[in-house]
Amino acid sequence: MATLDTATGIISDRTREMTQQSVWRAMRPDDLGHVHAIGVHVHPSYPERIEVYQERLRLYPNGCYVFEINNEIYGYVISHPWHPMRPPKLDSLVVAMPTFPATFYIHDLALLPQARGNGAGAGAVDVLVDHAQAIGLADISLVAVNNSLPFWRGQGFETISDDAITATLSSYDDDAQFMVRTLDI
Ligand SMILES: CC(C)(COP(=O)(O)OP(=O)(O)OC[C@H]1O[C@@H](n2cnc3c(N)ncnc32)[C@H](O)[C@@H]1OP(=O)(O)O)[C@@H](O)C(=O)NCCC(=O)NCCS
Repeated sequence: MATLDTATGIISDRTREMTQQSVWRAMRPDDLGHVHAIGVHVHPSYPERIEVYQERLRLYPNGCYVFEINNEIYGYVISHPWHPMRPPKLDSLVVAMPTFPATFYIHDLALLPQARGNGAGAGAVDVLVDHAQAIGLADISLVAVNNSLPFWRGQGFETISDDAITATLSSYDDDAQFMVRTLDI
């Protein structure tokens, strides 16, 4: 189980034998150049302007983390409270956080290939689940792309089909799936 040190913003995972130098820590504005470059590398088929990353970090810093190995950034997660069943389109600005959110939305979780397979992705999900529960949200949702559906299923997410979000999903591609994990609150 991953844990978040609220004083430092560092998330550590002691159950997966990760090295002491591997941490999720709070994202800072000066990380965004690296973060965007990783996004471009990992998601060449789903391009988003750096303004999208900047906006999410400005609107909800508590949902934005970077994954570091030996003080170098190898991945990131961007997430925030949101409206249920209304995933934002790819590369779109959301303007403001909802006054009455009902889901915790994972906008993106991306690791460079050399940082995968060691529990970092699952560790990020653990921390976001804890955070969503702490702020009283009943589920976590996301748009799964890039053949990541089996990973999300393994993290307890299920696909949801709804005609109302077809246009949004097609802003990603024909394989994009909306997924939800219900939380105990
Ligand atoms: C998807 C991603 C975040 C997973 O992170 P990760 O750190 O490699 O995953 P973990 O090591 O935490 O794996 C957790 C579990 O999921 C499994 N898993 C990971 N990726 C998987 C995949 N693509 N398909 C099936 N299972 C997968 C692991 O085997 C592990 O299983 P276990 O608990 O039985 O050991 C990472 O592969 C990635 O960044 N991919 C590219 C970007 C991407 O597609 N992001 C999702 C966009 S919606």
